[in-house]
Amino acid sequence: MNKPIGVFDSGVGGLTVVKELMRLLPRESIVYFGDTARVPYGTKSAETIRKFSLENILFLLKKNVKLVVVACNTASSIALPQIKRHFKVPIIGVILPGVKEAVAITKNKRIGVIATRATVNSQSYTKEIKALNPKIKVFSAACPLFVPLAEEGWLNDKVTFDVARKYLEPFRKYKIDTLILGCTHYPLLKSAINKVLGKGVTLIDSAKQVACEVKQILDEDCSCSQEKKPSREFYVSDEPDNFRGLAQRFLGYKLNKVYKVNCV
Ligand code: DGL
Repeated sequence: MNKPIGVFDSGVGGLTVVKELMRLLPRESIVYFGDTARVPYGTKSAETIRKFSLENILFLLKKNVKLVVVACNTASSIALPQIKRHFKVPIIGVILPGVKEAVAITKNKRIGVIATRATVNSQSYTKEIKALNPKIKVFSAACPLFVPLAEEGWLNDKVTFDVARKYLEPFRKYKIDTLILGCTHYPLLKSAINKVLGKGVTLIDSAKQVACEVKQILDEDCSCSQEKKPSREFYVSDEPDNFRGLAQRFLGYKLNKVYKVNCV
C-alpha cells in the first residue's frame, strides 16, 4: 500500500527516527510534522501534551497516512496510552523499543535514562524496564537544555559539551553500563554525550528499533509500499528555514518539501 507513514515530534528530534525509517524502508513515503511553534513539550503539562499530540495525529491522518509514529518520547509517555485506542491506524510509540534493547544489552543491570522532565516524571521508562526485569536498577535525569541545543543545531559545540558534563556527571557515580537516550532530540547530541561518559557506557537510541517495529507491522499487514520514488514531505508549525537547514545536515540530502502549516 503506497500510502505514507506519518511521523511527528515537537521539533527536529523525530528526524532521528525518520533517518532510520528511510534506511530500513526506502520505498516508503513519509509525512513528517515538527511542532516547532510549540516546542518544547517536555516542560508542559500532561493535559497540554495530550492536546498537542491529538492535534498532530489528526493532522497526519488528513494526509492519509497508513501508520503514525509518535517520534517523541514525551508524547509517547504521556499521551499515547490514552489516545491510541481511539484510532484505527496503528500508532507506534518510542518507549518500549529502546527499553527492550537496553534490557538486552546491560550486563551489570544498571541502566541510566535521560529524557525530558515530563517523561522522567511519568516514570514510563522505569515502569517498562522493571516490568521486563525487576532486578535492574534505573537512574533517571531530566536534561531539558538538550532540546534547545539540538533545535539550534549546536551538536558539537563547547557549550553543548559543558551542558552535557553538568547533566551527566552524576551517572559516573551510578556506575551504569547503558544509557537510554529517552528523547528523540538527544541522539543528535550523541558525540557530546559519548565524550562525557566514555566508551564504557552504551548509548541506546531507540530509532533503529522503532523502524524495525514499523517494518514488522507493515509486513504483517501486507501494507509495505512498492513505490520506486517515495515522497518525503516535511511540515512545521513555525518558520521552516532553521528546520530545513538542520534536517538537511542530519539527513544528508536537500529537502525541497518543507512547508509551514498555520493551524494543526
Ligand atoms: N523530542 C521530544 C521527546 O522525545 C520532545 C522534546 C521536547 O519537546 O521537550 O521527548
